[in-house]
Amino acid sequence: MTEGTSRRILLKTAVAVPLAFTFGLLASPIARYLRPTIKPLDLLGPSDQPSPLTDVVFTESDFPDDWTCLSFTFGQSYKEYNPEALEVRKIPGFAVKLPSGDVVAYSRICPHLGCIFNFIKEPQECLKGYNYLPAGPVFACPCHLSVYDIAQGGKVVSGPAPRPPRQFDVKKEGNTIKVVSLEAGGIA
Ligand code: FES
Repeated sequence: MTEGTSRRILLKTAVAVPLAFTFGLLASPIARYLRPTIKPLDLLGPSDQPSPLTDVVFTESDFPDDWTCLSFTFGQSYKEYNPEALEVRKIPGFAVKLPSGDVVAYSRICPHLGCIFNFIKEPQECLKGYNYLPAGPVFACPCHLSVYDIAQGGKVVSGPAPRPPRQFDVKKEGNTIKVVSLEAGGIA
């Protein structure tokens, strides 16, 4: 190795080391801006996920008939960049017994613009109030008249909503029906 070559390597090293150090220092505030709850040296750790506070518990006798619909509130804790490091949100939901005997549960927050929608059992009532005649019971939103067909998994059958409402996981254990978690992807 000539003297010129080793001087070049020395100079490159002298420039590269402070540059790498500077970028290293910048990475931390950028990472904390993108994900404020990140732990030091945990850049590749799992993303922050909300966690349910407690299950909502029903029994089979709460749903005596097909299309019995019960409202409930589901608490979720979200990681936040505040002194408590979390925020608790209360999500309104409906649990409905289908003719198959299964109980399904949905967030009542309309995926269009976040209003709280209603359960409409009678098709004629839906026609009068929401300008749509469904085949059976539906969820219907008073704000912009989106209608969701419960028998079709909450499919949007009328109005501007972009997708079905978020669904809760429901677990059956003996005589007990538990609403345990909300579908991922945000509240609305
Ligand atoms: S917010 Fe429900 S239809 Fe617009």
